[in-house]
Amino acid sequence: MPRTRGKLCRLGRLGAVLAASAGLFASQAAPALATPEPPEREISGTAAPSPARTPLKDLTDNHVGSAVNASALANEADYRSVLTSEFNSVTAENAMKWSVVEPNRGQYDWSGADSVVNYAQRNGHSVRGHTLLWHKQRPGWLDNLSASELRSAVKDHITTVVNRYEGEIRAWDVVNEVFDSDGTRRDSIFQRKLGDGWIADAFRWAHQADPSAELYINDYNTGWVNDKSNAIHDLVSSLRQRGVPIHGVGFQTHLSIDYSFPGGFQSNLQRFADLGVDVAITEADVRMTLPATDSELTTQADYYERIWNACEAVSRCVEFTTWGYTDRHSWVPNTFDGQGAACLFDDSLNPKPAYNRINPSI
Ligand code: G3I
Repeated sequence: MPRTRGKLCRLGRLGAVLAASAGLFASQAAPALATPEPPEREISGTAAPSPARTPLKDLTDNHVGSAVNASALANEADYRSVLTSEFNSVTAENAMKWSVVEPNRGQYDWSGADSVVNYAQRNGHSVRGHTLLWHKQRPGWLDNLSASELRSAVKDHITTVVNRYEGEIRAWDVVNEVFDSDGTRRDSIFQRKLGDGWIADAFRWAHQADPSAELYINDYNTGWVNDKSNAIHDLVSSLRQRGVPIHGVGFQTHLSIDYSFPGGFQSNLQRFADLGVDVAITEADVRMTLPATDSELTTQADYYERIWNACEAVSRCVEFTTWGYTDRHSWVPNTFDGQGAACLFDDSLNPKPAYNRINPSI
């Protein structure tokens, strides 16, 4: 059953924007959550958005989003403030993943996921759901299931999660990172036990649970023509021909200035759009070796500008989302030794040169 909905349910993005402008939402400085909260960081003077600055979300008709750290969302007022003022879409960085929502079979924890959706509804943001099926961050109990049990568990998972937020999630990453770099199917538990048809089934089950949600396949290192992006292109083409409800392709776009910017990025987005689906930048960030130098930050600005401009130039590119907006909470330093500073805002939530490059009002 869908959870009890707030007044925004089913209004969609336009309704949310109209409601926000009519004053139905908390102002950006007000706490976003109604329940008692732990002590919060103060909003520092430098972090408060400049009134003269046009926020990113007002620069484009596209959704402008950020991955959200659920703990920071609950505990840091300055984090919420910039998120609210600059963006109009949120993606739960971890809170909707299977291992988080159902760590033990049949035992659900919706606290983080609900907090992200509730925040979005109170502040006029749409939500990108991330992610239904991924070989990582899956619960351990899956691994001991037989093929038929796994198929039931996958169907139950998709149906339960998508139905819970029916009408409240603009787009779902239904499957994430299902190909290897050579273009073959990743040898995941889903592929091994369920066979090639599992991806089409996942999209059909998600569509049954929420016919209004846009359903995406999402992956990294797909911003240029290569074996993996070709494989996704072939799969999407085949799924569309067979009437499988797939509506979009997500390009994570985790980049590093140590590698050149993906050649043909815009035309690559366009060739997917030409299949009749939307495309979205779903997890953009641009990492560098620390400590960040002015020169590195300038290169980073070039990369972000190119990502932004490519999405603007492709009419079916509907979303520019970054994987976290502040270096304070980026996943990068935990994964790449000595690397970081990958986001548009620094630790203190000050806009970096990359932000200033995208935003002509600065
Ligand atoms: O929540 C547990 C906590 O209970 C435990 O004590 C702690 C100990 O390490 O781990 C915590 O979980 C961590 C989780 O983030 C939440 O902070 C995991 O160890 C850590 O592996 C996990 O990392 C996430 C990563 O996906 C997992 O592969 C990152 O935050 C998240 O940014 C990252 O996001 C992915 C996208 O979903 C898909 N595309 C790539 C992207 C970057 O890797």
